[in-house]
Amino acid sequence: MKKKSSIEICLFPAAGYGTRFLPATKSMPKEMLPILTKPLIQYGVEEAMSAGMHTMAIVTGRGKRAIEDHFDISYELEHQIKGTSKEKMLADIRYIIDKCTFSYTRQKEMKGLGHAILTGQPLVGHEPFAVILADDLCVNEAEGVLAQMVKLYETYQCSIVAIEEIDPEQTDKYGVIAGVEIEPGIYRVSTMVEKPSPADAPTNLAIIGRYILTPDIFDILQQTKPGKGGEIQITDALMEQALQGKVIAYKFRGKRYDCGSIDGYVQATVELYNEMKDAY
Ligand code: G1P
Repeated sequence: MKKKSSIEICLFPAAGYGTRFLPATKSMPKEMLPILTKPLIQYGVEEAMSAGMHTMAIVTGRGKRAIEDHFDISYELEHQIKGTSKEKMLADIRYIIDKCTFSYTRQKEMKGLGHAILTGQPLVGHEPFAVILADDLCVNEAEGVLAQMVKLYETYQCSIVAIEEIDPEQTDKYGVIAGVEIEPGIYRVSTMVEKPSPADAPTNLAIIGRYILTPDIFDILQQTKPGKGGEIQITDALMEQALQGKVIAYKFRGKRYDCGSIDGYVQATVELYNEMKDAY
């Protein structure tokens, strides 16, 4: 078993509607869309586990009960396939269920990512925690992105966002940072803007869906006014920490697929299939 991490809790905001995948997401949570045989959120939970975390806090909403069922034992199904060749297909999820604790709370209204994270406060308490946006699927054979970030946290002891360089025309899809590069690929953040137009973007360094947050973020979020799109943005709350030099941006090692878009979803499916097809 992995050694205990300095970060034990991973929060999964999972209340969004997933309108880009309608009608598939009409009655199924977008986090349950599979890449090959595994739902997106399971990839996220596995990444958190490989970073040493065992407490999964999930912010859900109406119509998301399938997520809770997925991370629970299905006695009838398991009884049916016991002793057959299919049994091994449940081995990974059984392992997760055995090792992790899952807790849930519902976000009643969609008021943005910052609001979703604030909704998770009762599940997190007063300790640093990780956040995974499951539709950003990150792969790295050697070391998961969150595990890389936990190591950085041990050094810097402040909030950390994962970033990647994007096409400068795409800045209006992401939170964008600027800062001073203090080590190769590691920035002390001075500016953060949510979804700026290319003309207004300070750089092309985009935040992707992996965060480590210190718990003072909750007090800041309580005070954060609606920003871009009329929503409470985590980027705006993090900017408050950045003003005190307390946000690090990290160019992670690995590959990220934007599985919230059809293109990224298909690309992830094809590339993971090509890597894993011998296993099927
Ligand atoms: C959210 C954040 C944004 C970040 C992105 C990463 O946006 O608000 O800052 O860059 O996730 O995926 P969303 O994709 O939910 O619109």
